[in-house]
Amino acid sequence: MVSDGDDSARTARDPMSGDEARAADAWPLRSSLALGAFPSAVSCARLHTRQVIWEWGLKELSEVVELVVSELVTNAVKASAATAADRDPGEPGAPPFVRLLLFGSDREALVQVWDGSPALPVRNAPDLAAISGRGLMLVEAVSARWGYHHVSPSAGPAPPGPRGQPGKVVWALVADPLP
Ligand SMILES: Nc1ncnc2c1ncn2[C@@H]1O[C@H](COP(=O)(O)OP(=O)(O)O)[C@@H](O)[C@H]1O
Ligand SMILES: [Mg+2]
Repeated sequence: MVSDGDDSARTARDPMSGDEARAADAWPLRSSLALGAFPSAVSCARLHTRQVIWEWGLKELSEVVELVVSELVTNAVKASAATAADRDPGEPGAPPFVRLLLFGSDREALVQVWDGSPALPVRNAPDLAAISGRGLMLVEAVSARWGYHHVSPSAGPAPPGPRGQPGKVVWALVADPLP
């Protein structure tokens, strides 16, 4: 596991006031974790998520957020294995990374997972006979919204790639269902 530590900040802005997929600054609570893109990253990401969500007092969201993290990190690791785009050009032998970003407010959590693959996620149509291809369906079912966007060094704010590389973020918003 490669951790670059947690980074938390509090602001008065409403996290839902803008595009929650991009407006990271709007979230009062934030955590960032870079992981080597290996299968073991999935359980590391899940444990990290459980701890952070507990620390933020969002325990009731924990199960769903952990599920979302597992699916998105699994996909990011798979996508990273299929590309060399997230390798550091100055360090060609370095293994690819993925980055898990968690954002929280008093009732919601936003999961973002960065990877360096240019390929995009595809939510498959329901197929009872299929033995795989259900991860994003699951994410869609348990989250309020999900989506993805490309990030590039020229896009303004620093992209979440571990060393500033371009890539993409797949995100999902988990909201407390209680009024
Ligand atoms: N982070 C990602 N990068 C590239 N492609 C992705 C990513 N996440 C998902 N995909 C694509 O979307 C498809 C569906 O993902 P998913 O529903 O999780 O099913 P599965 O992982 O079992 O194939 C994947 O097979 C892959 O082609
Ligand atoms: Mg999957």
